[in-house]
Amino acid sequence: KNYNIAVIVGSLRKESYNLKTANALIALAPESLSLEILDISDLPMFNEDLEATPPNEWEEFRRQIRSADGLLFLTPEYNRSVPAVLKNAIDVGSRPYGQNSWNGKPGAVVSVSIGNISGFGANHHLRQSLVFVNVPTMAQPEAYIAEATGLFDENGSLINDSTKSFLTDFMVAFEQWVTTHATKN
Ligand code: FNR
Repeated sequence: KNYNIAVIVGSLRKESYNLKTANALIALAPESLSLEILDISDLPMFNEDLEATPPNEWEEFRRQIRSADGLLFLTPEYNRSVPAVLKNAIDVGSRPYGQNSWNGKPGAVVSVSIGNISGFGANHHLRQSLVFVNVPTMAQPEAYIAEATGLFDENGSLINDSTKSFLTDFMVAFEQWVTTHATKN
């Protein structure tokens, strides 16, 4: 394993399709990538007043981001945008001013939805923030996973062969993206 990838999942629920997709991506990933899902559920809401005495959860999260070589984001779409918990994580990681933990880390975005617009709105709102926090984000292949309800079995395993093949190719492209753009810690 040569590259540590922080996986950030924008849904907190146990049966999340984004979480199931994250686990599928981890299983399908090339050898050189070591992936770990970060916990964003307990990050206090960002508040500039707390910057002088930052909560431990913020500091730990920032450390985890800084130690990653690359970033893999999975997001549901909430009201045509990203869930607040994911936006909060981005905001927490971007501060204090001048110490943006995301800076320069190569990333990729996957959106997963039970609907058929496949989280397009969230996928692109997320990319808008990633431009500003300077995460060079893989352009192609894009990953829009629609109608997620039918893709997994009752144990949460990915059972759709074409999705499996697509996600395998996606991870090969992401490995290439990370090896090209990572600045080793
Ligand atoms: C949704 N959902 C949703 N789906 C979509 O395609 N576009 C949308 O704008 C929304 N908006 C939305 C808002 C809120 C508050 C919730 C709770 C849900 C449905 C969403 O795709 C579905 O709940 C997914 O299953 C969420 O992803 P996880 O939790 O399965 O990963």
